[in-house]
Order: sequence, then structure tokens, then C-alpha cells
Amino acid sequence: MTRGLYIHIPFCARKCFYCDFVITVKHAAGDRARFLSVLEKDLAQAARRYRHLSFATLYFGGGTPSLLTPDELRRIMAAIRHQFIIVPDAEITLELNPDDASEEKLRAFRKYGINRISIGVQSFNDRLLQQMGRLHDAEGARRALRLIRETGFTNVSADLILRLPEQTAGDVRDSVGELIKAGVSQVVLYDLDVHEKTVYGLRQRQGRLPLPEEPLHREMFSAALTALENAGFAQYEVSSFARPGFESKHNLIYWRNQDYLGLGPGAFSYLDGTRSQFAGNTTRYLEKCAADDWQPDTAEIISPHNRQVETLLTGLRLAEGIDLAQLPDLRNRLAEALPPFMEKELVQLKENRLSMTREGRFIAETILSALVTPCLDSGPVSVSPRGLTS
Ligand SMILES: C[S@@+](CC[C@H](N)C(=O)[O-])C[C@H]1O[C@@H](n2cnc3c(N)ncnc32)[C@H](O)[C@@H]1O
Ligand code: SF4
Repeated sequence: MTRGLYIHIPFCARKCFYCDFVITVKHAAGDRARFLSVLEKDLAQAARRYRHLSFATLYFGGGTPSLLTPDELRRIMAAIRHQFIIVPDAEITLELNPDDASEEKLRAFRKYGINRISIGVQSFNDRLLQQMGRLHDAEGARRALRLIRETGFTNVSADLILRLPEQTAGDVRDSVGELIKAGVSQVVLYDLDVHEKTVYGLRQRQGRLPLPEEPLHREMFSAALTALENAGFAQYEVSSFARPGFESKHNLIYWRNQDYLGLGPGAFSYLDGTRSQFAGNTTRYLEKCAADDWQPDTAEIISPHNRQVETLLTGLRLAEGIDLAQLPDLRNRLAEALPPFMEKELVQLKENRLSMTREGRFIAETILSALVTPCLDSGPVSVSPRGLTS
């Protein structure tokens, strides 16, 4: 079975105005040292339960894992390899903020096993970057992308955010164009999510967050899609575009509803049909590990029916779609819900695989909600591994 390992590094230099991830801006060397010791303890504990497991992917997400010094990363990698089997050709990704890119750091990260970088560019428009509270400017992102290439990374994913206040379709086209020119192998387009407890949430409550209307949002997405397709990228998932062979193996595990172990504050695990979270924030994580309290704070056994609903919800995001044989309990309900979408050529059924068409992926959320709602029995269906990775 293909399985992924996710490690959450919660430190950030500053909190971006839109961000709601589990992060802390307190990261003096002492705090990081304490976190690393605790993470090592957590790894050892998890290995006691899961030592027999091997992992095809390893993903350092955050927060900002690129804030780690080479020595800190070396220490974590050694602990992981000591406790678990990471398969020889594993995809090993680290999320990087442009400000952290230096030749020395990138070379060291490669030496310690990182073979894929996911860089948070967000935009190449300096005005938008400032509005988001990002620390880097467009030139910083260009410089980081250059260094990533020069230090030998060939598998590089870059994030952009769409639907920002004052953003135009031209901004999006330019940013995508720069990424293509920089030679990245994957581009992920996130739609801005406004969370209540963020600066953007406050601006929205004060009526100071004029988000682009739907036609403009569609124009932005369309501009990006055309540029990426013309450059040889395929939309293999609603928001993710990759050159052939550079699809994120780690994210495919989430979308195919396969197993993963998540360690660190806020991380979720999904193993043997149970989804659990050990600790929801950094303080709780540090306290529980220090007290040798290894019970997860939440654990939910996913019923076979809900597992199929989740498979539908995540698998339909993929261009490859899902084999209906995986969804025996949902067949009748889908047979009723599908026809209107099939008639409009928004979804298709080929050799028993159900997928959204290119046109359907423009209104993915609407289709997913319309198909999944009639399949629900009762109780919540949760599909967030920890939020988004790229
Ligand atoms: C977990 S974040 C961490 C990456 C890294 N710290 C950075 O900021 O570059 C991964 C990506 O999620 C996206 N993201 C985070 N918050 C978002 C939000 N509220 N709406 C849309 N995208 C968001 C950003 O594109 C970001 O690059
Ligand atoms: S977007 Fe990235 S850098 Fe900004 S606060 Fe969130 S995790 Fe930290």
C-alpha cells in the first residue's frame, strides 16, 4: 500500500494576513530546539505503534519548514530514518518561503534528502504581496526560484493565490507566465479562503475586503489554465497543474483517500480507517509530549459508507476520477444525482470511471456538493488531512 508521512513544522517569521494554519511566530533557537526534542520523542512513540510501516512520500509542511537550519533538518531526517522505512525512491518535499532561500541552505537540504521543493510565491505583483502581508517581494521570489534551479532541484512546485482584492486576470496571467519561465514543474492555484480570525477576516467584517466577483474569478482561472496548458502542464487535479511525471505523489495519497501518518501540531493521521489528531496547536503538542500523554485528542472511526463518500469527494477532484467499483454503497444515489451533470457534459463516465470534464472543473465545488449531499447518511464527513499541501 502507498502511504505518506507528513511532518508539521509550525514556525513562521510573521503571520500572513490570510493564513489560518497552525503556526507560531515564536521561534528563537531555544524554541526550535525544544520543538525538535519533542518531535523526536513523538517520532519514537509513533514508531512503537507503526514501525512496520514504510512510506512512499515524506512531506515537511507548515508553517515554514524552510526556517529550519541545515543542522536542524539533518537531525529530523536522521530521527525519521531511524524510526521508519522511507522507500529508496521516496518523494521528499519541503515547503519553502522565498526569504529563506540561500545557496548554502538549499544545497544542504538536498544533501539531507529533500528532492522536491514547494515554494509559496502567491503572486509576482508587489502591491498584492504587500496587501497579503508577505515578507518577500516579486524579485525575492525570482531570486529564490533561480537558486532552487541552480542548486539542482528539478521537481519544484509553486503556489499562487487567486481571488485577491484588486487582483486582475492580467496579474494572474503574468504570475503564471513567470513561473513557467522559471521552469517549475507544478503550479497550484489556491482560491483565497477568508478565515474569521485573520487580518483578512477583520477587513471583511469592516467591509474593507472587496473580493473579485465570480465572472472575474473565472477569467483569472481561465487565463491561468490556458497559459499552463499551452506550456505542457496538465490539470491533473482541480487546482493542480503539472508537467507529465511531476504530479505530487504525496497529495495523490490524500486525493485517492489512502493512508498517511501526520506528526506535529495540528497534523491529522488516517490509518486503518481511523482519522485522528494528536494535538490541535503547538502549546498543546508540546505539553502532551512532555507529559507522555500519547492519546490523540480526536479520533474518528470512518464507517465503510463514509469512507466511500470521502473517496468520492476527494477522488472526483482528480482528472483520473474514481472507479465506481470502489463505491458500491453509493451507486443508486449517484444514479439519481448524475444525469443532469452528464447531460450538460460537466461529468463523464468512461469504463466505469467517474470524472469531471474540463468544463466541470470550473464549477468543481458546486458539482461536488450536489453529488455528495445525497450520498450522506448522517454525521460529518471530514476530508481535510491538515488543509492544503502542494
Ligand atoms: C501551508 S501554506 C505554507 C507554505 C509556506 N509557509 C508559504 O507561505 O509559502 C501552503 C499554501 O497554502 C496557501 N494558503 C494558505 N492560506 C490560504 C488561504 N487562506 N487561502 C488560500 N490559500 C491559502 C498558500 O498559497 C500557501 O503557499
Ligand atoms: S502562509 Fe505560510 S508563511 Fe504565511 S503565515 Fe501561513 S504558513 Fe506562515
